Amino acid sequence: MIPENWTKMKLPYFFQQLLGFLAVIIILMTITVVYLVHFGRHTAFGEIERRLFGYAESIVEQNLDSEELDTIHEVLGKQGVSFYVFEEEGRLIYPELPPHLEARVVPEEFQQLENGERLALTTEQEDMLGNPSETAFIYMPYFRQSTEDFAGFITVSAPISQVDRQMSELHGNVFDAFVLSTAVAIIMSIIFAHYQVKRVNRLRKAAHQVAEGEYTIQLEHKGRDEIDYLSKDFNRMVNALKETSEEVARQEERRKTFMQDAAHEMRTPLTTVNGLLEGLEYNVIPEEQKLRSIQLMRKETRRLIRLVNENMDYENIRSNRIILNKNNIPVTEIFEEIKEQLKEMVEDSTNTMTFEAADDLSVYADYDRLKQILVNLIKNAMQFTTDGEIIIRGQRTHTGTRLSVIDTGIGMTEDELRFIWDRYYKADTSRVNTKYGESGLGLAIVQQLIEMHQATIDVDSEPNKGTSFHLDFPFKVSE
Ligand SMILES: Nc1ncnc2c1ncn2[C@@H]1O[C@H](COP(=O)(O)OP(=O)(O)OP(=O)(O)O)[C@@H](O)[C@H]1O
Ligand SMILES: [Mg+2]
Repeated sequence: MIPENWTKMKLPYFFQQLLGFLAVIIILMTITVVYLVHFGRHTAFGEIERRLFGYAESIVEQNLDSEELDTIHEVLGKQGVSFYVFEEEGRLIYPELPPHLEARVVPEEFQQLENGERLALTTEQEDMLGNPSETAFIYMPYFRQSTEDFAGFITVSAPISQVDRQMSELHGNVFDAFVLSTAVAIIMSIIFAHYQVKRVNRLRKAAHQVAEGEYTIQLEHKGRDEIDYLSKDFNRMVNALKETSEEVARQEERRKTFMQDAAHEMRTPLTTVNGLLEGLEYNVIPEEQKLRSIQLMRKETRRLIRLVNENMDYENIRSNRIILNKNNIPVTEIFEEIKEQLKEMVEDSTNTMTFEAADDLSVYADYDRLKQILVNLIKNAMQFTTDGEIIIRGQRTHTGTRLSVIDTGIGMTEDELRFIWDRYYKADTSRVNTKYGESGLGLAIVQQLIEMHQATIDVDSEPNKGTSFHLDFPFKVSE
């Protein structure tokens, strides 16, 4: 429930939760109590004032008959209620006082009484023992029956010790309720805080495991609240991390393979060149063979240069160090140039090559880079096709121009297709070192260039049937 290292934490989450719950509950309780006490007092006063007005009304109903008043005086006196009747000038007319005394009580609110208003006041007086005690006071005007003129007023008063008794009872009850609900609140807070902390700790533990490199962890979640959503995001994060780490491992593997391949590829030409140079140095190569030796050395060095150049080109494109110079290029024009460039290669092969495009077809691209893309794809097609046909086609589409390179060669399986865009990937490593000098960089470069053109590339392939690459270039967007 409480984390092991909680002592080191300033205020552990568990206690934060607990305090939060308690604070809310105690504030709510306090507001309720204050309200209840205030409301209780208010109603108790209201009640007592209503009662006093009731007495005053029944006094008026007796027509201020002094006998009747005596009886009422006696009855009310037993309940601690006293009343006085005044005439319109404010002179006391009941109870009667000895003739030498004249009581005249004119309250400040006399004017209001004259207007027929009733008044209720609470004053602090001293009881017989000199203790301060509150008294409820009401003033009620009465009127002449015939003319309805103001005829005087009655005051009725009662000590409100009764209210105090009621109030202290109420306080007692409220206090009990307060203690009880605080106890229940604490228990519930502990349970709830415990539950929340458990969920947070589950996440913590999982995060810890992920930090240790365990990417298989998945948290359960029901999508109910923020912690559930956090768990969901956590799972997504773990999956992403897993993919990244797998990708890194794959890249690393590929890099190792490339280093081996590159070393292998470089060693063969370098050994050849070295051998030939040695032969020349010690003059063991017959005169008529010398020219051929030199040609062979040049061919091998060209291969090395190509390997280095392709790597550099790939890096440059990848790090956005090249700028495209896009134009509307007539497709037939670029096809003609490629045809010319690859003529020898086609003649040396057993394949046929056909170009198909309408005369007015154009494509919005960088001339040199588009040629690079197409030459790469066509060379691949030639490389993996024997006694077959290679078609290079241009078509207008709704969104732009589609260029396709179609061959009837060895094709690829779905597994192979997944990786062909990866750097240094060669479907069949045993085919390394063919006459075209594979480095596994061709398609990786093509893909980068296609991306830079905001174009797309698709591939369909079937083993032993052939492969088609389709490039879709969008129309020029006017700026
Ligand atoms: N038309 C195709 N038919 C069959 N397989 C292909 C075709 N094009 C590409 N591939 C496969 O995809 C792999 C990657 O091609 P990519 O052009 O990137 O490299 P490469 O041709 O081996 O080397 P590079 O082009 O750098 O000299 C190839 O080795 C091959 O296995
Ligand atoms: Mg290639």
